[in-house]
Amino acid sequence: MNGNCEYQGVGEAPKKDGFAHFMLKEIYEQPQAFQKALQGRIQQGQVKFAELNLTREQVKRWDKIYIIACGTAYHSGLFGKLLLEEFLGVAVEVEIASEFRYRHPLLNENTLAIFVSQSGETADTLGALRKAKNSGATTLAITNVVGSTIAQEADYNLYLGAGPEIAVASTKAYTSMLIMQYLLSIYLAQVKGTMPEQKKAKILTALQELPEKAQQILTQREFYPEVIQKIKNVQSLFFIGRVFDYYIALEGALKLKETSYIHAEAYGAGEIKHGTMAIVTEETPVVAVAVQKSVYEKTVHIVKEVVAKGAFVSAVVEEGDTEMQKWAHHVIYIPQIENIVSPILAVIPLQLLAYYTAVARGCNVDQPRNLTKAVTME
Ligand code: AGP
Repeated sequence: MNGNCEYQGVGEAPKKDGFAHFMLKEIYEQPQAFQKALQGRIQQGQVKFAELNLTREQVKRWDKIYIIACGTAYHSGLFGKLLLEEFLGVAVEVEIASEFRYRHPLLNENTLAIFVSQSGETADTLGALRKAKNSGATTLAITNVVGSTIAQEADYNLYLGAGPEIAVASTKAYTSMLIMQYLLSIYLAQVKGTMPEQKKAKILTALQELPEKAQQILTQREFYPEVIQKIKNVQSLFFIGRVFDYYIALEGALKLKETSYIHAEAYGAGEIKHGTMAIVTEETPVVAVAVQKSVYEKTVHIVKEVVAKGAFVSAVVEEGDTEMQKWAHHVIYIPQIENIVSPILAVIPLQLLAYYTAVARGCNVDQPRNLTKAVTME
């Protein structure tokens, strides 16, 4: 067990510490959770995992990687795919555990299967893990609750160390999972020898800046009242973004649905033109995430289109951006950071948007109807 494993899932009852809800407390705990996820794992410019002692031969043997999870954990896996494919040069598939376990995936001893689960007890993720193990794949889990079944059954386990997450809507565990996806993909590429040192140095420096920059976002509450007024009574809204920004959009939509019961869907910004644009009107606000520089112009282009259809648009962009405010009705700024990690910050305003909207609608924020924290039964 390493220094990141203080949460045992038992013991003293968790407290809200003056916050109105656990969800808000957990959103505000993110700077500390980031520090825990990073603690001891960056040393002299290298990623170190006390829990992993992989050899170059082992890593080179993997010609296929799966990342398997449910819900929010699945959304973190999408980041892992892009990072691993880029840094390691291996094809990665991200799969919903409840689908993966009932199909015939190509698994053998040359496969690495990564399982992501806050609780470590999600029935479908556990079922998928057992299936992968039986097929000879190497299994690696990323979990938060120490001693969980998934943590114990996987060949390797990395703890998030995010501390207890009580609210059903995952926030700090999700962003800690994202950090872990960056660390793990860099670590594997480092062992294999496929990660350019300069690129690694830039990303590791940026990851270490996250706690402080997340703290800045949490002090900027002025962005939210106007947009909450606009969305709190709508039937449906859309989140858009591209590449990493799209994955954040998926998470923003899930968070809004589960906490405020407003129908929300996320689209890769370009994809909205292939059908959904027909129902974009003044009745359907759009939240646009546009922090990835490589696709920024493309997202702005779609923002102009949805504005032309009458939609109210709130956009999340980096500080210093002057273009988006010409088109969107409302803009939320996040601090600048090395571009590849900026989506980790961009999701925090979406978490706050979901939280404040749920509060404005009088919803049961921490315990939404029909949901449980860990889905331990199919
Ligand atoms: C997150 O806000 C959700 N409550 C849900 O999607 C959750 O992420 C999913 O059930 C997976 O849970 P796990 O991480 O504990 O496996």
